[in-house]
Amino acid sequence: MSFVFSAMKMDKEATRLVEEAYAGAGIPVVSNNSAHRWTHDVPMIIPEINAHHLELIGHQKESRGWDRGFIVVKPNCSIQSYVPVLHALRSFGLDTVIVATYQAVSGAGRTLSSWPEMSDNIIPFIPGEEKKSEIEPLKIWGSVQNGQMILATKPIISTTCIRVPVSDGHLVSVHARFDYKTHTGRDHQSD
Ligand SMILES: NC(=O)c1ccc[n+]([C@@H]2O[C@H](COP(=O)([O-])OP(=O)(O)OC[C@H]3O[C@@H](n4cnc5c(N)ncnc54)[C@H](OP(=O)(O)O)[C@@H]3O)[C@@H](O)[C@H]2O)c1
Repeated sequence: MSFVFSAMKMDKEATRLVEEAYAGAGIPVVSNNSAHRWTHDVPMIIPEINAHHLELIGHQKESRGWDRGFIVVKPNCSIQSYVPVLHALRSFGLDTVIVATYQAVSGAGRTLSSWPEMSDNIIPFIPGEEKKSEIEPLKIWGSVQNGQMILATKPIISTTCIRVPVSDGHLVSVHARFDYKTHTGRDHQSD
């Protein structure tokens, strides 16, 4: 089956319209963009964790009257590193997560040579990135009930996103707190 991989850099509304036009024309869209990550009937997938959310596609096609086309998205690049690891630990009462990301310039669609300000520099704030890193995991860990996406409420995540002068490859430091009492009935917290 032919499909479109969408990795355009345009404003969100334009991206939304282009992706919907492809899906409406019968072509499945797999998107790297953030434009449709919070569209209620669009699954946001890390395949190892929530492939079962693909059941939303049936509801999406039905409500929009699309026969073959649909839209599926991937999450923000930084959460792809630590969410799969935390997923394996979730059942042990994962409660609170403090994250610091150290993100390469490739994540901004840039290179060190085309971004001279990044030479010998660190930028301790990436607009929008902290919020994405805190709320996108809750959709990944959410559940689909009667065609509706219900967000997870735990863990509570706090993130600091830092741009570092590295060409490729993000680094993440994760501190996780587990609610051992809720999980085991015994009174103890563990980091
Ligand atoms: N880089 C990452 O780690 C990362 C992670 C998650 C999500 N994303 C998202 O993925 C998308 C692409 O990011 P990127 O880092 O790959 O950016 P990028 O290197 O700047 O690439 C953007 C591409 O979009 C093309 N483009 C721009 N306007 C277009 C239009 N009107 N029609 C068709 N193509 C158009 C550009 O073509 P030209 O080169 O011809 O201008 C370029 O090839 C963005 O939405 C970004 O937010 C990126």
